[in-house]
Amino acid sequence: MRAHTILTLAGVVALTGAVALSTGQAAAPKPAAAPQGLKPVSAFASIPDAAARSQALFVEAGKVIQHPRCLNCHPADRTPTQGMMMKAHNPPMRAGEAGHGVPGLPCLSCHHEKNVPAMGEKIRSVPGDPKWALAPQEMAWQGRSLGQICAQIKDPARNGGKTLAELHRHMAEDHLVGWGWNPGAGREPAPGDQKRFGELIKAWIDTGAACPA
Ligand code: HEC
Ligand code: HEC
Repeated sequence: MRAHTILTLAGVVALTGAVALSTGQAAAPKPAAAPQGLKPVSAFASIPDAAARSQALFVEAGKVIQHPRCLNCHPADRTPTQGMMMKAHNPPMRAGEAGHGVPGLPCLSCHHEKNVPAMGEKIRSVPGDPKWALAPQEMAWQGRSLGQICAQIKDPARNGGKTLAELHRHMAEDHLVGWGWNPGAGREPAPGDQKRFGELIKAWIDTGAACPA
């Protein structure tokens, strides 16, 4: 069922990209009315135990957190990855000290403020955001379990000094996080939408921010 949803989404994205390429217009895909692939907070109301509910909410939010759209920028080894298979960035790319690329080749020399539809067969679009950069080392998520990621994003020493309220705001409102649902032609968006994702994170915090095992 889930695989089917993903295939359908990928198909729509591919189609939209094809139309954009053939008409020369910028692709502006509008998400369907009901966010797909991410359950709303209400789906967890029947779990009586608050800690169990909290864990279940985080597991649902984890469908976004562990999606390649997010993981590609939160790698373990300072090299961004690309695509659904999370292959090494091509051309080879290092984060540099501050995550903005190495001297002479900053991320922003190729990644612009917005997604740029690309010509040609291989690269459907170049993803973009004003803050495009690699997440810092202590925020590495690739290769970690959801429980480990949960523990580290709650830890101010590893989350950029954020309180839980600030963490929620980042997830629910940050523009770069929002790119995950507007990733440009040829890329599958993260499941659901940023609003629903933000609500899951809020409910997870309100139920004690319990981490899955
Ligand atoms: C283009 C690269 C990029 C993408 C894509 C990206 N991030 Fe990040 N992320 C960063 C950077 C850089 C930081 C640190 C700077 C900041 O806090 O804005 C960060 C920090 C974070 C933080 C706060 C620190 C932490 O790890 O606890 C969270 C939470 C986060 N990102 C969530 C997400 C989610 C969810 C997605 C996918 C929907 C995502 N990110 C996609 C680059 C990215
Ligand atoms: C020389 C140009 C260039 C530079 C410099 C560059 N990139 Fe990229 N990047 C690209 C292109 C082109 C793509 C799209 C490739 C594709 O989708 O086939 C891409 C894709 C990505 C993706 C994949 C997004 C996804 O979910 O599939 C991430 C993540 C990324 N770049 C991060 C970075 C970061 C972080 C830096 C700086 C440390 C950087 N890039 C520097 C050209 C570049």
